[in-house]
Amino acid sequence: MLDVYDNRIFHLHNDQISYALHVLPNGQLGHLYFGAPMHGSQADWQYLIDSGSKSGGTAKFSADSDFTLADTAQEYPVWGTTDYRQGALAISQGQTPLYPDFQYDHYQVLRGKKRDLGFPRTFGEDDEVETLQITLVDHVLALRLVQSYSLFQDQAVIVRSQTITNESDQAVMLDRMLSSSLDLPQGQFEFVHLSGTWARERQVKTQNLVQGRAVIESLRGASSHQQNPFVALQRDHADLNHGEVFGMNLVYSGNFIAEAEVNEWAQTRMMIGIHPTSFTWKLAPTDSFSTPEAVLSYSDQGLSGLGTVNTRFIRRHIIAPRWQNRPRPIVLNSWEAAYFDLTEEKLTTLLNAAEEVGIECFAVDDGWFGQRDDDRSSLGDWVTDKKKFPQGIKRFSETVHDHGLLFGLWFEPEMVSPGSQLIKAHPDWVVRPDKGRYSIARGQYVLDFANPAVVANVFNQMKAVIQAARVDYVKWDMNRNITEAFSPYLQQQDRPQNEFFHRYMMGVYQLYQLLLTEFPDLLIEGCAGGGGRFDLGILYYSPQIWVSDNSDAIARLSIQSGTALGYPLEAMSNHVTAVPNHQMQRITPLATRYNVAQFGTLGYELDLTKLTAPELATVKKQITWYKQQRPLVWQGAFQQLQAPAFGDKNTVAWTITSPDQEHIRVGFFRILADVAGRSVDFLKIPSADPTTQYCIDETGSVVSGDVLRRVGLRLPYQFNGANQTEAVLQGDFQSAVIELTAVKKVSN
Ligand code: GLA
Repeated sequence: MLDVYDNRIFHLHNDQISYALHVLPNGQLGHLYFGAPMHGSQADWQYLIDSGSKSGGTAKFSADSDFTLADTAQEYPVWGTTDYRQGALAISQGQTPLYPDFQYDHYQVLRGKKRDLGFPRTFGEDDEVETLQITLVDHVLALRLVQSYSLFQDQAVIVRSQTITNESDQAVMLDRMLSSSLDLPQGQFEFVHLSGTWARERQVKTQNLVQGRAVIESLRGASSHQQNPFVALQRDHADLNHGEVFGMNLVYSGNFIAEAEVNEWAQTRMMIGIHPTSFTWKLAPTDSFSTPEAVLSYSDQGLSGLGTVNTRFIRRHIIAPRWQNRPRPIVLNSWEAAYFDLTEEKLTTLLNAAEEVGIECFAVDDGWFGQRDDDRSSLGDWVTDKKKFPQGIKRFSETVHDHGLLFGLWFEPEMVSPGSQLIKAHPDWVVRPDKGRYSIARGQYVLDFANPAVVANVFNQMKAVIQAARVDYVKWDMNRNITEAFSPYLQQQDRPQNEFFHRYMMGVYQLYQLLLTEFPDLLIEGCAGGGGRFDLGILYYSPQIWVSDNSDAIARLSIQSGTALGYPLEAMSNHVTAVPNHQMQRITPLATRYNVAQFGTLGYELDLTKLTAPELATVKKQITWYKQQRPLVWQGAFQQLQAPAFGDKNTVAWTITSPDQEHIRVGFFRILADVAGRSVDFLKIPSADPTTQYCIDETGSVVSGDVLRRVGLRLPYQFNGANQTEAVLQGDFQSAVIELTAVKKVSN
């Protein structure tokens, strides 16, 4: 719903949120409110507008008034005027900075948003989304700026983006053009972000904000392992399940900046967008540039509540309709089972074991093409290695299909190895500077995806393989970041090199578009040396992403917990792997490895032929159970009751609750045994319906939702030296997954 008062105050609202903005006294666009839904009459908004200004000691907008932007909540601050904070926009011409003054011109409302594979953007039906577009104009500089705000039915989310058009007769340079800025005039906040590195992605980090800036960013050409574009402001005293939290995420996979700035009056500004370092965009007369979208989310139920908001939104308005509400196949991935040591014979033995336990898709990960016997060669040459597959990958795919499984194949489309045929034929297709040295990582270079000919070549190679081998699933990997960014193509085209990083991403999205247009049913799993590109841009095309190369169950608890604040469970591809774990050397029980992995899209990545008969029987049972129960993963609401970054570091507790509250899955993980722990432990289940009685699967006991909410679910006993017979959890790395199923309504 949109209420407009006097063409001056705009109030977007649904049952979940309100977002209000207005035209400031200087004609620019001001921010009024974002948060819990408010009725908000015109008088209410006027009351908030009239809240006064601390203009003393500030620069004034004009000589005839006291108005200053210094402490004014704005929608899209321009750098360099009476607001000395960081701005969302900076423009220049030649060597000269411009200071645009964007004045309100008019607004319009659009219904529906089409899904377009050309660039990742949110979408929805006509009755699901309305977009308020406010056009602002700088008449002197002849620039037009359209601010878009999309409100989605029943979602606690506003999606923002901007389009700027050059209506002058001279080119201008966009030096900085972010996707969103949110000014929160009151309150003390903590800045929450997901930081890490390879094999330790998306650890929850919380910074108490003080006057000044907190910044996270990626300048690697990908959203990165080190920082994730999902960030949040958490109001003081908010915790995992209580209090106000404001989220921001970017529908984009390249360089980004996200920051929170507190000014001298304790006002907080959060911004997100394409990183301005190494970004310039040349806007010729009549040209337009649109920013990636920013998703602003809100919850008054803490960070876990914000995770639920993000999940509901992404499921419906980012993930491809083809994969909404559809089971994802359980994959057996060959990587940790065989690495580069592949032979058709070996894989066929593995395939037999996979079929036996109920695997649905057999994926050959790396090593199948060129002469790829290690990670130093053949990228760019996507033809079968006949040494390993004498009858071609096509023949092996037929075998897989004959066994009734889907066939999956690994590609790393954006990369090229030094000795490859591709690099010999096209030395100028590599990202490298015109002069001077350039670096190598994992023995490979990055292809110049800003060049349409490169994208077309890689597409044609992939298309030939996918078509011939009837590939059902592709794992799209990206194992190195960009260094010494320079595009030979842009040089030929006489475009600024600072356009490269963004044009590279446009090339990546174009390849996705070509593949998914040609093969609409293809399931593409995203991956970047583990979870180095886990973002909404990739999720738009790839409904699931490999979370991390670290598949140790205990390490995964914190990685999945952090990831779930910004992304749905089913977006996380989780594999059960061998012990000792290949990254951590830790030995965890098979049950715990499965219990962690089942909170996501399940797969296996180990040599099944090395398992004992009882282990294989267990795996078979796990797979059978997961198949029956998996709709809960992509339909249910995930809640984190105890998480590694919050409170007790030794236990983790998660629930998934079905929309009708009739089924609740409780995951409980105790990392180290605790002999002196409490004799009886209860876990409160806030999502239980107090008017329903639940059966606890294993024990068969029946208990009301009221008790589950107020007292809690009795957790399995832990071995304490004396209760040998009763003990369920023994030793380190223990876990239990308990299913609660509604049996009847409680009569009053
Ligand atoms: C990356 C991926 C792994 C695997 C290897 C193959 O590291 O994250 O899952 O595919 O590449 O080389």
